[in-house]
Amino acid sequence: MSRKVFSNPAERIMVAFDVDELSEAKIIAESIRDLGVTFKIGNQLGTYEGWKAAIEFAHEYGALIFCDTKFKDIPETVKKSSRAMTRLEPDFFNVMADTTLDTLKFAVDGVDSAVQDFAVKKPILLGVTVLTSISNDESVSIYGADSASKVLQFATSAAQAGLDGVVCSAQEASALRDNPATTDLLLVTPGIRPAWAASGDQQRITTPKQAIENGADYLVIGRPITQPPSEIGTPRDAILKIIEEIS
Ligand code: C5P
Repeated sequence: MSRKVFSNPAERIMVAFDVDELSEAKIIAESIRDLGVTFKIGNQLGTYEGWKAAIEFAHEYGALIFCDTKFKDIPETVKKSSRAMTRLEPDFFNVMADTTLDTLKFAVDGVDSAVQDFAVKKPILLGVTVLTSISNDESVSIYGADSASKVLQFATSAAQAGLDGVVCSAQEASALRDNPATTDLLLVTPGIRPAWAASGDQQRITTPKQAIENGADYLVIGRPITQPPSEIGTPRDAILKIIEEIS
């Protein structure tokens, strides 16, 4: 498989709409509708408004949608949840990859069975490795090893199970690109902080430019865009500044 090719830098940006209601998301969406970024909707909005409404919302704006579902459960439940999500035709969704190989294979089966039974579009299925809010020390305490080696382990299982890509920190992107087992995975990287933004609860961060240089495909960016510092301006201004940085 060859690497994803982007026709313009805006296509690499996934804006995290971490807001309570679609009415709030709409204000941001209206102002950025012509930019061609992907809308990332997580459990905050997806749970309250419903995933179906969230997907319709993004598609009304002509945007691709990444449903950040982070499914984690026993294999059969992950399979059924993945099947249910695929029926709604998101462009991307994810499951937690810090689990068994079997569970990840069941997620792929859930997607494939929905595509076959309901003739729906095949979404891009991602596996979340170690959350970017987890520090290296916390990774040792939770998983018994440093974040770099756990990301490599979880990404290798994701590739082996047939997932399309992983969510990781851009700090780990070059190691995944250099490793033959994970080199072709689509790399989606949160924990992106332009030099002008606060890091907040994110621990394993990079700037947009570093992320691209390390081999990331998509950059998930929330607060730096939705709550930009006053000297940057509006969410639209923040996106334009990031596009300039990665162009
Ligand atoms: O505001 P910020 O840029 O930190 O937002 C990052 C977004 O990416 C949040 O919506 C968060 O849930 C999501 N995310 C993450 N780390 C992952 C997977 C998703 O931060 N590993």
